[in-house]
Amino acid sequence: MKKLSAEELQTVDTYNSHPYYAGQDQDWQAVAYRFHAIAEHIANRRVLEIGSGIGKMLPFFVQAKYEYTGIDVSTEAVKIAQAHYPEHAQQFVCMNCCELGFDEGTFDGVFAVNVFCHIPKSKALHVLGQIHQVLRPSGKLVIVMVDVSRPFEQMVTVEDLKAPNQVLLSLYTKSEFFACLKQARFRDITVHEDMMSNMYVCSK
Ligand SMILES: C[S@@+](CC[C@H](N)C(=O)[O-])C[C@H]1O[C@@H](n2cnc3c(N)ncnc32)[C@H](O)[C@@H]1O
Repeated sequence: MKKLSAEELQTVDTYNSHPYYAGQDQDWQAVAYRFHAIAEHIANRRVLEIGSGIGKMLPFFVQAKYEYTGIDVSTEAVKIAQAHYPEHAQQFVCMNCCELGFDEGTFDGVFAVNVFCHIPKSKALHVLGQIHQVLRPSGKLVIVMVDVSRPFEQMVTVEDLKAPNQVLLSLYTKSEFFACLKQARFRDITVHEDMMSNMYVCSK
């Protein structure tokens, strides 16, 4: 795996120690709501979830006949996802989104929910470039992230967790992330607001 910064390593350490922290507060209704919001934009063929955590999205995509692959940098989160869904275990892979190991044009759609907040802003364009490469022409990208009025990037302590409990939090204003997507050559960018989050939808 490519060298992770000290901040990224601490974040991975936190998720490896508390894999259920990823998405623990989401009930099935909330996950179903998120699935429908995302699936509306992605054709039901090959889809890649970045930062799949403990795998809550898989059953929805499988039921809707997508060919789903989930990647996550946390080995522990991936193990839990594989144990929850043994018949789909090979569809969960431990991988850092900074180096996506898929052929060019593999996916019809890529999505990430609350994952870019853990990527250093200095690497965001690189990750978007990786995603651009694995999408087929006109493939769709959907990114969900918390909305903030001021840019933010620092290590924060998740008070509810026992140490290790530090994560990198990189939060973007709408115009800031819109500009990143544009710079990464994504087209037809739209932003859908939903409570505390923004959902960015765009095409390769
Ligand atoms: C806030 S959780 C969200 C999990 C899931 N998407 C959800 O909404 O429940 C963030 C997830 O992103 C993963 N993650 C963080 N950095 C990553 C990276 N560079 N590559 C892949 N996954 C990453 C973490 O391990 C964690 O599972």
